Amino acid sequence: MQTPNKKFYITTPIYYPSDKLHIGHTYCTVATDTMARYKRLCGYDVMFLTGTDEHGQKIEEKAKEAGITPKEFVDRIVTGEGGIHDLWKLMNISYDRFIRTTDDYHVKAIQNIFKAMYEKGDIYKGAYEGLYCTPCESFWTESQLKDDKCPDCGREVKPAKEEAYFFRLSKYADRVQTLLEDTDFLEPRSRVNEMVNNFIKPGLEDLCVSRTSFSWGVPVDFDEGHVVYVWVDALFNYTTALGFMNDRYDDMKDFWPADVHFVGKEIVRFHSIIWPAMLMSMEMPLPKKVFGHGWLLLDGGKMSKSKGNVVDPVILADRYGTDALRYFLLRDFPFGSDGSFANDLLINRINVDLANDLGNLVSRTTAMIEKYFDGTLPETQVADEIDTPLLDIVKALPAKYEASMESYAFQTALADTFAVISRANKYIDETAPWALAKDSANNARLACVMYNLLDTVRVCSILLSPFMPDSCEKIFEQIGADATVTAWDSAQSISLLPRTVSVKKGDAIFPRIDLEKELAELEAQAEAMKKAAMPAVEIEPYAEENVDFDTFCKSDFRVVKVKNCEKVKKSNKLLMFTLDDGTDTDRQILSGIAQFYEPEALIGKTLVAITNLPPRKMMGKESCGMLLSATRLEKGEEVLTLMMLDDSIPAGSKIV
Ligand code: MSP
Repeated sequence: MQTPNKKFYITTPIYYPSDKLHIGHTYCTVATDTMARYKRLCGYDVMFLTGTDEHGQKIEEKAKEAGITPKEFVDRIVTGEGGIHDLWKLMNISYDRFIRTTDDYHVKAIQNIFKAMYEKGDIYKGAYEGLYCTPCESFWTESQLKDDKCPDCGREVKPAKEEAYFFRLSKYADRVQTLLEDTDFLEPRSRVNEMVNNFIKPGLEDLCVSRTSFSWGVPVDFDEGHVVYVWVDALFNYTTALGFMNDRYDDMKDFWPADVHFVGKEIVRFHSIIWPAMLMSMEMPLPKKVFGHGWLLLDGGKMSKSKGNVVDPVILADRYGTDALRYFLLRDFPFGSDGSFANDLLINRINVDLANDLGNLVSRTTAMIEKYFDGTLPETQVADEIDTPLLDIVKALPAKYEASMESYAFQTALADTFAVISRANKYIDETAPWALAKDSANNARLACVMYNLLDTVRVCSILLSPFMPDSCEKIFEQIGADATVTAWDSAQSISLLPRTVSVKKGDAIFPRIDLEKELAELEAQAEAMKKAAMPAVEIEPYAEENVDFDTFCKSDFRVVKVKNCEKVKKSNKLLMFTLDDGTDTDRQILSGIAQFYEPEALIGKTLVAITNLPPRKMMGKESCGMLLSATRLEKGEEVLTLMMLDDSIPAGSKIV
């Protein structure tokens, strides 16, 4: 049913413009876009918000590294060539509004919001002492750490202390717990237990909501030197972009509360605990739902630029088309769970579903109509009972699809639609149009078969249009379906195409891909990208003097395992290693690499040492050998990486 004038407000997270976005970010935005398009199709007045989260220490540091201001830095990534705006254009993202947290109206609104919570007594001044993860901009308590590292990103945390403002999160703990447990505010349901058991039950501490250690943020306007914590700044974007506490927009009354926030699983904590608590403090209605989707993994891990394992959506969309990529993302992975990305999955999915099933159905049907009827079906058509199974599943499809879409089960909605497409291909085999065409007495029957196929394609393409908007438009054109039969209501009925419909066979909508060839090319491209991403190295001059082979052979290189590693007291440079060298006696080596490694991080590693150098005393301690490492100059500074070997190689193995 059309629902005229009903409003629907949906958001993506706002993205950090600290690096180019990868396919994981694209995944979430494509899902949001598909939902927004589906709701528009159903007749809703939709507000789809996305944007960028531009403040914080990480951006400040990256800009400094690049030698430009933070604003210049984010401008490059957001609006510069190949930036976020370009990516969303390429991916056909139909957002209605794009917020940047550096926009004036947002900054002012955040100051107003912060002050309002302060005046209410929900924000107060104190001092923060804790462990800080700079990339995640998060403070952690000792008990929250995982293996002494940030539980979100696995990186080192540093002790930090600062005078700061706090938000009385503890005051709202009970109300938030009830919200999570007694309503369907947060989905999938499995995420509720995680939030309640891991964060609320152990005791919600008040949240540190200002920083003084850097300045790239929204200034607290009543206390110089403090900037608002990025997550307070970021979360309220969902309301400031509608005009909350600012004059730029006036859409709060129409669109707040949001119908759904789509967010990745690692930021569910911010959206399902901190966000409702702050809204409660502001006495505002809560969003109707937060949906925490899973991650797209690569080689079993989360994609991240710093780990060098990202997939570039631009390359894939350029090679295979935006719609094919959009389809794959939502067809292959259940939205609420993690999924592993791989190029062969993508290509097979395109070949099987899009080129073979859908593409062939459209091209065979239109080709047959051109061949047998010069492109236009005759009025007289004869039905047969063999048509019933196909027509029945076409009729049943929209309700099933709608139920899946309403519960964000994109994968199921697509699987059901493609089951109908496969059924239509089977119907071609069952009815054997080429046999009917042999005798003109069968023309009316043949026309009916063709009509049923076209109308099936019409219904399926309406349902697929939120996923693959451009391709479905092309299909409509090829099957002669104009706007009067492609709206949402038209999907609910069969046989809406005019009986004497004319088709226009066009180019293949989803060309078949050569799997082997593409995989090889993609791999080569990924290698080249990895190489290009390597920092430029100043090569040290090679030695001019040769060393004779016998002298070289005298050097005794061995595999060693780090049993212990600690800083040498009173030395900034030296680390002292206790090594297993395969003998019964530990070997001690001192190495001037303290600026490159945290000693604990090296314990257990397998390294290479030259062991027959004469022992040497450093800071009163004996060093028996030297550890090998790769050294080079990057941007004029010396960088060093210890040579590490596969842990399966036993200590004492000789290296020749
Ligand atoms: N700026 C915050 C969000 C603030 S919202 C008020 C942020 N930004 S982000 O750029 O790091 O991530 C944005 C979204 O992309 C998150 O929902 C995150 O889960 C999602 N993804 C990033 N990598 C992803 C995958 N590999 N797979 C799926 N989604 C992932 O967090």
